[in-house]
Amino acid sequence: MINILAFETSCDETAAAVVAMDRDGSGVGITSEVVASQIELHAEYGGVVPELASREHLRLLPVVLRQTLKAAGLSVADVDAIAVTKGPGLLGCLLTGMSFAKGLALSFNKPLLGIHHLEGHLVAPYLTGAIAPQYPLLTLIVSGGHTALYLVGGFGVYQRLARTIDDAAGEAFDKAAHLLGFAYPGGARLAAAADVVAAAGGPVNLYTLPVAMQGQDDFSFSGVKTAISSLIAKVAAGRPLGKLTEQDIGDIAFAIQEALVASLVSKLKRAVLKTGVNRVVLTGGVAANRRLREVIAALPGIELPNIENANIELIVPSFQHCTDNGAMIALAAGWRYLAGERGDEKMGALSRWPLENLSAPAAAMTSAV
Ligand code: KG4
Ligand code: ZN
Repeated sequence: MINILAFETSCDETAAAVVAMDRDGSGVGITSEVVASQIELHAEYGGVVPELASREHLRLLPVVLRQTLKAAGLSVADVDAIAVTKGPGLLGCLLTGMSFAKGLALSFNKPLLGIHHLEGHLVAPYLTGAIAPQYPLLTLIVSGGHTALYLVGGFGVYQRLARTIDDAAGEAFDKAAHLLGFAYPGGARLAAAADVVAAAGGPVNLYTLPVAMQGQDDFSFSGVKTAISSLIAKVAAGRPLGKLTEQDIGDIAFAIQEALVASLVSKLKRAVLKTGVNRVVLTGGVAANRRLREVIAALPGIELPNIENANIELIVPSFQHCTDNGAMIALAAGWRYLAGERGDEKMGALSRWPLENLSAPAAAMTSAV
């Protein structure tokens, strides 16, 4: 058994975790984890303020570390390696985490690994220990900062198939939510309002929004945002005092969720058809969206020899591990550590870092990876 202690500070969550696994990379389990969200700090500004976030990480890192170790019943001396998100993300935030992790690794003489944030998201479904990755797979990473589709040939082997040319999916949900009057970051609140309308039998007033960039590989959400803004203005103009009713907000939230989900799903469908791969990992904050999970799971797959219309095999993290957390960083680090990978003391942070620049860990891993 090995224990990996990891930190994640790429955006507005200060997170740490200890993840344990067998020496062949299987038997994964979370020993303890703490996620301190800074949402309230940034809410009044309507978005993440990088300087405030870095300072808050600096304040919270020792607290989160203490809580994580206490819950695990371990000290830093007991862990096999320390890991930290090296990028991509907000540079000041990444550097705060990197310096903290480096200091700890140096003082306790532990190996330090710098991990790619998106590789963390990608391995998050395997944190339960219930399933091991099988390749090839497609991954749709949909978060507040990233939206892209990759063909994954193996652990560390990534080929980008599509990306967003403007906003990320989470950003699109959050901006739409802001237009509807939900507090930042409103993505999950908008989704909840849409789900209430769906559960009550569907929208009373049926609005439709355009599904962007159909027929193309890449994602784009700026056009939908403009359409949402016009729709809200049009509906509000027909109401007393120009104010949307609760029903309007629910109905429009429903239309927004349908349009954003349809746009994500249409790109995924193209990728499945293009690659012939129907095993799909859906991950990142927006993977917590129930409607998105539902529509992807119901997609007919590709026609494989002997299997007619094999459905998409959808693999998702637990709801809490869709959004940023330290455990996903620890797991990616553990698999790299076991394959012999080590970071060096001069390692810096990278605000931009294409996932496809990674490579498979040097030594071939055994069964689990
Ligand atoms: O992965 P994440 O925690 O942060 C980044 O790495 O960016 O993703 C956060 C994003 C936010 O934009 C948030 O509004 C969105 O995920 N999100 C959702 C839902 N839950 C979180 N969007 C739609 N539906 C949800 N249920
Ligand atoms: Zn993330």
